[in-house]
Amino acid sequence: MDSKITAYLTQKIRVINKTLEALLPKASTKPPTLHRAMRYSLFAGGKRIRPLLCLAACEACGGKESEALPTAAALECIHTYSLIHDDLPCMDDDDFRRGRPTAHKAFGEGIAVLAGDALLTLAFEILAQVRPTRRYPLSALLFELAHAAGSHKLIAGQVADLEGEGQKLSRSELRFIHRGKTAALITASLRSGAMVANASPAKLKALTTFGENLGLAFQIVDDILDITQTREQLGKSAGKDLDAQKLTYPAVIGFEASKHEAARLTRAALKALAAFKQKEKTTLEMLARFLLCRQS
Ligand code: IPE
Ligand code: IPE
Ligand code: MG
Ligand code: MG
Ligand code: MG
Repeated sequence: MDSKITAYLTQKIRVINKTLEALLPKASTKPPTLHRAMRYSLFAGGKRIRPLLCLAACEACGGKESEALPTAAALECIHTYSLIHDDLPCMDDDDFRRGRPTAHKAFGEGIAVLAGDALLTLAFEILAQVRPTRRYPLSALLFELAHAAGSHKLIAGQVADLEGEGQKLSRSELRFIHRGKTAALITASLRSGAMVANASPAKLKALTTFGENLGLAFQIVDDILDITQTREQLGKSAGKDLDAQKLTYPAVIGFEASKHEAARLTRAALKALAAFKQKEKTTLEMLARFLLCRQS
């Protein structure tokens, strides 16, 4: 990774974590087990991709970082909840996440489910306090994240992922899973960042196409890394998708074709940014390239 992106990520992740720290109930707040569990998963060192994309979209649309930070934090709360539930024994049954035992291993299943519930709900409590812009009322922002996290998108993808285990599905059904479980929240991260910056409809549309392509590429890379990386490198279990007979891109279209598809989708994402001036879109381009070649 070149030093420019490393410095950028370090600085932005620090700001995102500071925002999350201020918005999360203290570990000692009653009930302490629950608040400790929420913090345990949230502050375990995720890559913070969704908040980063939200901030970058806001910047590309001329908005102030401070206006996007609460929304960025809400996105990370939703994402972390989805990981806690994804790891449960009744879902992917994983023991290791973000470099430490999964929430249910550390706190038991009951508290892990509830910590997930509480993080999802907290996201909307945070969003409810965001200042609306001229083009986008608060209801538009709330709808954006609720829809992306709901039964048409993220949950739909998780259902199809679960029901697809061991099945033989078509490429379009596989795309449905990946769009739902991963690309929807990534697209909403970009769109919500644009909304808090009062983006023009043209820019919002461009970021939607960017997000749909980038989000799909992101999950294909996740599938690839599950094969190529170790548990230590990923901070989460590796090689699990094959064992669980998951519907992944490498399983359905092959390993090399998956790498080409992730690269093709990243190119399509970058092309969608034509509506932006070069100086507006530099950060988004840098993040898209980084996500394609990431190693964890
Ligand atoms: C993992 O997401 C789950 C997917 C949707 C692929 P990330 O790779 O963003 O996980 P963290 O947040 O860095 O732990
Ligand atoms: C997780 O997909 C998607 C969501 C949590 C919504 P995966 O099951 O592939 O994610 P990892 O590999 O466990 O991080
Ligand atoms: Mg899963
Ligand atoms: Mg999983
Ligand atoms: Mg995976």
